Amino acid sequence: MDLHNIREDYKFDSLLEANLQKNPIDQFKDWFESYQLLRVKDANAMAIATVDGNGIPQNRIVLLKEVRKDGLVFYTNYASNKGQQLIENPNISSLFYWREQERQIRITGTVSKLDEQENEKYFKTRPWLSQIGAAASDQSKPIEDRNALEAKFNEFQQHYPEGSAVPKPESWGGFLISPETFEFWQGRSGRLHDRIIYTVMDGEWSTKRLQP
Ligand SMILES: Cc1cc2nc3c(=O)[nH]c(=O)nc-3n(C[C@H](O)[C@H](O)[C@H](O)COP(=O)(O)O)c2cc1C
Repeated sequence: MDLHNIREDYKFDSLLEANLQKNPIDQFKDWFESYQLLRVKDANAMAIATVDGNGIPQNRIVLLKEVRKDGLVFYTNYASNKGQQLIENPNISSLFYWREQERQIRITGTVSKLDEQENEKYFKTRPWLSQIGAAASDQSKPIEDRNALEAKFNEFQQHYPEGSAVPKPESWGGFLISPETFEFWQGRSGRLHDRIIYTVMDGEWSTKRLQP
């Protein structure tokens, strides 16, 4: 397999200081809204990296569910590997790669759990099968085989048929990522990419350009 000749030149757009929003959340919204117009599947998918108890980084995709003025929200199982890692060590890095627009957004910050009222409220808005899935899965725990998984799922479906209220598992809920840095990367021609990093000090955001 020869990967040496896979090479792209990037020409979609530029990211210049004159056009930046003052607040990175507003900049994120601008980019996200423009990405959503492309109707790309899972446009809201983001990789989140956590660190486990042995200092080993762990990465996986989750779906961004809300952009608030103070951060980004995703939902998961607090008892999952990522949930436990974040409860032990709230540092997180999240990443979006938007290939079609030659863009990458890299965020670091810390997480906090949403309160139970918010979790309950959001859980109720989810489709029935998503509620069943969340209730039936002890996320990240091993299970004997596929049959055992399906049997568990079917049991929950029978117990809570469509239209009934599926109780939210205690361990299921959201995390708010409170950002500390936000880096916006726009691919440019000849590898002279634009990189702008936002950092925060006493609640005030400032930006710097980084070399590509
Ligand atoms: C497109 C996509 C979206 C996903 N969305 C979520 C999500 O919103 N929440 C979640 O807990 N897992 C989501 N997952 C599954 C996670 O990547 C991961 O497998 C799971 O959360 C277990 O991770 P952990 O064992 O590190 O806790 C998604 C996976 C993919 C590929």
